[in-house]
Amino acid sequence: MNQAIELLDKEHKFILTAIEKADALFNSVISGDSDISGMKKFIEFFRNYTDKYHHQKEEEILFPEMSKRNELLEDGVIKEMFENHEDFREMMRNIESEIDNNNVDSAYKLFNEYSEALKDHIAVEDDEVFQMAESLMSDDEMDNIYFRFLDNDRELGDKEKSDMEEWIK
Ligand SMILES: [Fe+2]
Ligand SMILES: [Fe+2]
Repeated sequence: MNQAIELLDKEHKFILTAIEKADALFNSVISGDSDISGMKKFIEFFRNYTDKYHHQKEEEILFPEMSKRNELLEDGVIKEMFENHEDFREMMRNIESEIDNNNVDSAYKLFNEYSEALKDHIAVEDDEVFQMAESLMSDDEMDNIYFRFLDNDRELGDKEKSDMEEWIK
């Protein structure tokens, strides 16, 4: 596995950990041991880490490079990945609004739909999309993508990213 895919894979693992921890918090809220306000920090994580740091690398760097090399992918699985990201944004807005209205059961139901869809999405990327990327591009081209990923993180803030990883792990 090259460094670009390793980086995305590492981010996937943090995202999957965040899903597990948010699920545990929901359960604790439902059993009366925690306050729903704790979910706000998870929403911030899914918006900032998952959507901004991670999805931005896929949408602005990796996927366009793949689409350039294969039009069938552009209209197929890549299009599907973009649509999934858009769905996740809408789902997160709905989860947040249920939390703001203190509708815990409904927020948890929406969160379950979000987490199942996100886990499926990550599995498709890990099992299919990233392998296609590696077969479409040379090692040098993948290295170039890796350096663009690093620039992307630097522009958004390396410290903020590592703080979020430290918080979730
Ligand atoms: Fe994605
Ligand atoms: Fe991803």
